[in-house]
Amino acid sequence: MNLLKCRAVVILKRHVDIERRIMKSNLILIGFMGTGKTSLGKLLAEKLGRGFIDIDQKIEQDAGISIPQIFERYGEKYFRELEKKTVEEITKRHGLVIATGGGTVKDEDNMRMLKSSGLIVCLTTEPEEIFRRTERRGERPMLDGGEDRLQTIKKLLSERQKFYAQADYTIDTTDWSPLQIMNDICKHFKL
Ligand code: S3P
Repeated sequence: MNLLKCRAVVILKRHVDIERRIMKSNLILIGFMGTGKTSLGKLLAEKLGRGFIDIDQKIEQDAGISIPQIFERYGEKYFRELEKKTVEEITKRHGLVIATGGGTVKDEDNMRMLKSSGLIVCLTTEPEEIFRRTERRGERPMLDGGEDRLQTIKKLLSERQKFYAQADYTIDTTDWSPLQIMNDICKHFKL
């Protein structure tokens, strides 16, 4: 087979693989805090007639306390254990829209489970806009500790870049409304 044919077969296989995964798989939103995963997830689920699960909300429901309280009482390590258990549980299900927490992707096992359960869309946003959207204290324990909040955001973003880069599709949400983002995703995946 010549090189051109080989390339065409690879592209076709990738296309078929994506089509197959769309039909029966979950649609998973990853991205940093404040990129709009939860709002978009709700909209997408409604439009596609799918169930919606927000990992953070499920953790809070199961634990009976808020995420800031979990961090304060038991620390990040314990929160990550709860997060992994939740990922394990929901990735066994199909046909959902799933919004992850900003740090869910840091864990190799989480990433493997998410990838094998569906298509991954990453939402990105400029750090200054993330700063504006997440300014309120007491809601995001990962950002509340440091002296300079914008620097903390930039540092975490660069540490996590390699995980976010593993998505099937990435979209910058800085200047877009949830509705525009939803339409773009649906157009991209022909949903
Ligand atoms: C975290 C992001 C939060 C939540 C927790 C930790 C992170 O979710 O899971 O506070 O490490 O980035 P959101 O991205 O929904 O804010």
